[in-house]
Order: sequence, then structure tokens, then C-alpha cells
Amino acid sequence: LLLLLLSIIIILLLLIIIIIIIIHYIENGKSSQISPLTLLAERPFWNVKLDDSALWNRLQHVLDRECNPILRQLDTARGAAGAGLQKGPGIGLQSLGPISEVKESFPKDIQDFLQSMHFREYPLIIDQSRLCSEEAPLLLLAIKSKECNIRNREAIRETWGSTGLVTGEAGRGGVVHRVFLLGRQDRSPQSCPLSNDHLAEESMKYGDILQWDFRDTFYNLTLKDVLFWPWVLQHCPHARFIFKGDDDVFVRTPALLDVLQQAEQQSKARGRNLDFVIGDVINDAFPIRQVDEKYYIPQDFYAGKYPPYMGGGGVVYSGSLVMQLNEVSKRVHLFPIDDVFLGMCLYKLGIVPRSHPGFLTFDFPKEEANNPCSYFSILLVHKRSPEETLSLWNVLKHIQVDCLKQTSDIPRRNTFFLQKE
Ligand SMILES: *[C@@H]1O[C@H](CO)[C@@H](O)[C@H](O)[C@H]1NC(C)=O
Repeated sequence: LLLLLLSIIIILLLLIIIIIIIIHYIENGKSSQISPLTLLAERPFWNVKLDDSALWNRLQHVLDRECNPILRQLDTARGAAGAGLQKGPGIGLQSLGPISEVKESFPKDIQDFLQSMHFREYPLIIDQSRLCSEEAPLLLLAIKSKECNIRNREAIRETWGSTGLVTGEAGRGGVVHRVFLLGRQDRSPQSCPLSNDHLAEESMKYGDILQWDFRDTFYNLTLKDVLFWPWVLQHCPHARFIFKGDDDVFVRTPALLDVLQQAEQQSKARGRNLDFVIGDVINDAFPIRQVDEKYYIPQDFYAGKYPPYMGGGGVVYSGSLVMQLNEVSKRVHLFPIDDVFLGMCLYKLGIVPRSHPGFLTFDFPKEEANNPCSYFSILLVHKRSPEETLSLWNVLKHIQVDCLKQTSDIPRRNTFFLQKE
């Protein structure tokens, strides 16, 4: 009898465990477009345990449930509001009106963010629909800029952002295209005396301005990603790689082209699809809770850890990822920090960004800062003024041969340049 009782208890326990696993799967299940393999690989970090204390987590939890195919079917069967959710690709987002729960205690910027967080369809004011009409670029440079940063854009056009066929540093290079991503800047006539049609003229002259009709503020930067992706799909779907970065960084584009060519060859050799995402990866970061910091995020706005994400100076990813990013971004609520938002989208896709030591988001270590040859060990450094960018570009052109001879005291940052040695 004791044996019988014991086996019944064991069977019951097993049943309970199986039920828990099934419930866990239903709770965390993902859209049907994602393969079962990535489904296993990914665990939504923000709702493994629902954290009721934070607004963003709560909203994302609701969205995760709405986008969950299993739960959605249950809702429809019950005749609940589920039907309204199947309208379009923007699942769940439309059903969410302005957040009524705007906390007085949040800083003004976060309050502004919350007011328009549900909305992400802003019209283009200046378009470049023919940017890629002639040839698909190896690299599309998408540079976040602001109306008033005219000098930054000028410096970039003359240096690392020049377009057309760009030769690599060691390899053959490829075709490069460039767009600047802008919103509408709140500007005072003193600090930024621009005529109203300055930007239109700039666009006529250079054909590289994309401007949307939203306020170009720090917390609105995420909009530049979510609006850029559908634009790429429509106008430049065959771009092989995308660089997304700031207008105050210095990029060694020719060396980057070599790295990209190499990555492409490797993936071809392996016969695999190229899920290529590189940058300065930051793992296990927690939100900054000091009120006066630029990246401050209140505890009751977002709780928990950030997913792995890349420092904002610049990232490079393969063009084939744009479609997936565009799809998955509709299932992630806008987040006030654009780098973290990209990290969240990648996480949901089960794609792990790779750290490339050539991306220096935090500048050179002290002992290298004064040696101009150090630049030959990197791909990107943050941050450089337009003047520094112009002079650096010229200096580096002239010292390259000499630097080649003395690379021994420069750390090997694994760029193509040093690998050739
Ligand atoms: C973002 O842009 C929209 C549209 O211009 C604006 O209503 C909103 O206040 C902006 N958000 C922030 C945080 O500045």
C-alpha cells in the first residue's frame, strides 16, 4: 500500500511539473513567424517574472500576451477583444491609446515620452526615394543627425562618409551610400539661425537627407530606427550592410569595408545566412538610477536588467536583418534609449550582437591617445568634432605607411589591417 501511495505521489508531482512547463510555454510563447529553434533559445527577459512595479514592463507584458498566437486564439474563442488585434502588422500597438497613467513623479522628458509612446507613424518631410535606385550598396551609412548640425554633416561628407565606390584599406572595398536621419529640431534663432528651407536645399545639393515630422529630442531617437527600417525595405532592400551611428563619431570606413567583405566571404564559405551585428556590446547593464544623469530611467518606469546592447556611437548589421528587425519592433514598446531598444529587438529575435574591439565608444585608453598610429587599430571612435574629423582624415592618409612599420606597440584590435600583418 505504501508503495502504491508513493508511486501516486510521484506521478502527481510529474504531472504538476509538466503543467508548469506548459503554462510557462504559453506565457512566453512567441509569434508564429519565429522558428521553434529561436523560440527555445530566447526567453523574454522582461517578463520571466512580471514586475508589477514598473510601467514599461507592465505594458510590454500586455503586448507579449496580445502577440502570443496561443493566447490570442483562446481570446478569440472566448469572443473577447481578441478579434480587434488581428487587424494588421501593428498588432497590439493600435489597441493602446495614450498612456493615461502619466506619473507626476517622472521627469518631464519621460512624461513627454509616455504621451506619444503608442504612436510611431510620422510622415516623411524630406525623402530620398532614389538613393539606391542604381545599385545596391555594400554599405549604407545611416547617420543620426539634427537640423543644426550642419558642420557635422559637412565634415562627414568630406571624410568617412564619402559615397560611391570606396576602396578598402587592404581589400577591394565596395559601393557606399549615405543618409542622415533627422526629425524636426526645436531651435532658437540665436543658437541655430537656419532659414526654413535650408534643409530642403541641402537635400537638393547632396541627396542624403531623410527627415520625419517628429520632434528631434533625445527620447525620440528610437523613432529614427523604427521609421528607418520600413524605409530601407522600400527603397534600399538590397543593401548588404547597414551602419547606424551618430554624427559625432569618426569611422574608418575603408577598414570597415574590409571587415564586411571578410564577413561575407566567411558566411558564404559556411553556406549560412549572415546574421551579422557588431559594435561595442554592453552586457548585464542595469538602468541608471541617478536622477541628474543623461540616461536616467526611473525604477517605476523600467525594472530589471537591460538585454545585451551596443554602445551608441555606431553599430553595423547585415541588411538581411532589416526585415526581421522591422517585424519584431512592432512587438516591442518604444523605449526612450534607442540603443537599448535595438538590443531588445535583437534579443527577441534570438540574435546575439558580437563585440568588435575596433569600436571605441569610450575613446582610446590614455597611453594610446597621443599616438596617431593608434587609429589604424580601430574602426570607430567616439567622439570627434567636425574639425577633428577633417584634420584626422588628412593626417591618417599621410602617416599610414609609417604607422605600418610600428604597429608592434599598438594593441591588436583584430581589424583586417592588423590581421594582415
Ligand atoms: C516626440 O515627437 C512627438 C511628435 O513631434 C512629440 O509629440 C513628442 O512630445 C516627442 N517626444 C519627446 C519625448 O520629446
